Amino acid sequence: MLNIVIFGAPGSGKGTQSEKLIEKYHLTHLSTGDILRNEIKNNTELGELASKYMAKGQLVPDSVVIEMLDKLFDQHPDNVGYIFDGFPRTLPQGEALDAMLSKRDTKINLVLSLEVDDEHLTERLINRGEVSGRNDDTPETIKSRLQVYYNQTAPLKEYYTTRDKLVKIDGLGTVEEIFARIEKIVDKIDY
Ligand code: AP5
Repeated sequence: MLNIVIFGAPGSGKGTQSEKLIEKYHLTHLSTGDILRNEIKNNTELGELASKYMAKGQLVPDSVVIEMLDKLFDQHPDNVGYIFDGFPRTLPQGEALDAMLSKRDTKINLVLSLEVDDEHLTERLINRGEVSGRNDDTPETIKSRLQVYYNQTAPLKEYYTTRDKLVKIDGLGTVEEIFARIEKIVDKIDY
């Protein structure tokens, strides 16, 4: 199996590059943000809980997200690998993901960290907010999402660096330029 974590701050291009990775490597996309937004759309209990956190740019509690993901794993038995987008976002989530994969005799092969400065991140999200209707793409919530990223999510970089999994990718440029950088790394992975 080829299991990739696509990592980075809000607006760094995780979703955009995931689409290209899925197209080329036929991976199953597990985006916790998309899954949670779908729960909100369907007015589920989980959606109701998640929306309180998401609207403020805060993280949904670890236990909720971990349980949600664990349930989704076994729905894809013939899968050649996963792309984890927006998960893990905290150290406990990182440890839980390792445990979930190890239970299924597999592991994370690679963590691609998209590196984009705050100015470009904010500009991209504000632009998207003008057309997407995502209620967390407002200047105030973007600020809080970035703070949450640096305080709670960025420490995972060290977690994956010490495990020799993290590769930093320059996240500025066109979508195609960035994907060319990613392909070069993924094609070298032995799995
Ligand atoms: P989530 O949906 O994961 O959002 P995010 O991390 O804030 O990331 P975005 O989707 O905003 O950005 P992205 O990096 O995917 O970039 P994209 O490709 O879309 O999470 C939302 C919320 O859900 C969280 O705040 C939290 O509350 C909750 N949540 C989710 N997962 C959780 C978890 N594991 N634990 C707890 N809570 C969780 O691109 C952004 C924009 O930039 C787009 O408009 C795109 O077109 C544009 N763009 C992309 N690439 C480029 C480029 N190269 N040049 C110019 N523009 C570009």
